[in-house]
Amino acid sequence: MLVASNRGPVTYEVREDGSLNARRGGGGLVSGLSAIGSDANSLWVCSALGDGDREAVRRGEAEAGVRMLAIPADVHEDAYNGIANSVLWFVNHMLYQTPLEPVFDAEFRRRWASYEAYNRAFAQALADEAAEGASVVVQDYHLCLVPGMLRALRPDLRIGHFSHTPWAPADYFRMLPYDISEQLLRGMLGADRLGFLTRRWADAFTACCTDLVGGLGDTRIGVHGLGADADFLRGRAHEPDVEERMAALRAEIGGVGRKAIVRVDRTELSKNIVRGLLAYRQLLEDRPEWRERVVHVAFAYPSRQDLAVYRDYTAEVQRVADDINKAYGTATWTPVVLHVKDDFARSLAAYRLADVALVNPIRDGMNLVAKEIPVVSDEGCALVLSREAGAYEELGEDAIVVNPYDVTQTARALEEALTMGAGERAERTKRLVAAATALPPAQWFLDQLNALSD
Ligand code: G6P
Repeated sequence: MLVASNRGPVTYEVREDGSLNARRGGGGLVSGLSAIGSDANSLWVCSALGDGDREAVRRGEAEAGVRMLAIPADVHEDAYNGIANSVLWFVNHMLYQTPLEPVFDAEFRRRWASYEAYNRAFAQALADEAAEGASVVVQDYHLCLVPGMLRALRPDLRIGHFSHTPWAPADYFRMLPYDISEQLLRGMLGADRLGFLTRRWADAFTACCTDLVGGLGDTRIGVHGLGADADFLRGRAHEPDVEERMAALRAEIGGVGRKAIVRVDRTELSKNIVRGLLAYRQLLEDRPEWRERVVHVAFAYPSRQDLAVYRDYTAEVQRVADDINKAYGTATWTPVVLHVKDDFARSLAAYRLADVALVNPIRDGMNLVAKEIPVVSDEGCALVLSREAGAYEELGEDAIVVNPYDVTQTARALEEALTMGAGERAERTKRLVAAATALPPAQWFLDQLNALSD
């Protein structure tokens, strides 16, 4: 069994004494795979990211079961930042400001050639490593061309591909140059089986194929709604470092009986952090009785900072949070507690303290935070959830559902969440937890493998 993804399960740093320090990555895929055990017959192929990883490859020190590909830095940059994160992510999350973007010019074509080369490097490595008839599960939008390329090299393999993002509606997807959209779809259709997080994204992909390449051919489509890893999260959330951070966070929140509206995200354009802040601001404006009685705990961790639009967005989040604190803050109350330094233990501390979870993305493949907060929260929480998150399909009935663009509705939803009675909150949390944990990562991964060998 082989897995392929851009970001692997481990990254390396060079310590001051020159030795290598391995750090395990987070995320559903990593915990899913660790849960099935590090079987001697499995291999994870990923990119070497950064100097530490490259050094590990050079010294041949990458850990057993992982093969890191040292793709030339400029090729990786163009494929990862230039195409995957600036074009494919933008198309599937419908993030373009269409009067100005996108522009598919010679520079785009140059980057596209890198995306092809990057995908070819993965296909070649997988072809070299796979045993006769092995199963290969390729992950995400970075590697859309791999299934087709690998099929051509190794027709004996069983090939799957899983998308962790939404898929664009056909009319939006048609924005891509026709030859490129066709190449992308045909690349994916090189797989025996394609997996998506929700029926909505699977149907959108099918519609694109019908529209642009005459249908799915022999490829089958499956839906696997990745769930939260309850055992891991609850265990981890009760370790001493999390307890410490809870104490620190309680001090930052201050006041007696103050409620916490919690959000935890990468600082990602699609997460809609700014409109969340504006909704909170509107709540404080329209309902002054909530001043001093609530705090918005917003963790917005750095992401994709090589891209200017992400840097600008990070600054905007900071600016809007500061504005709210200036406008409403008092000597005894900071309305918004914003943290921008990634700290998993602190995220879990916030999950435990959450009265309200705010998850309002403008579009999101699943959004695991929506599943994790109800699972970890000490006293249950009310979930304000965007209808455009994949998680809506599973959690929608017990969440307070919002249109992510509608700041006024989101402000009202926050108020409804804050005033929800304890009994209702407990009942809803129970059902949210059941839905959120229906398909834990290990089972999610096994389901993909089983479907592939059927
Ligand atoms: C999304 C994608 C993942 C990606 C993650 C973090 O969840 O589906 O493939 O790894 O974002 O983004 P990054 O660019 O830091 O890998």
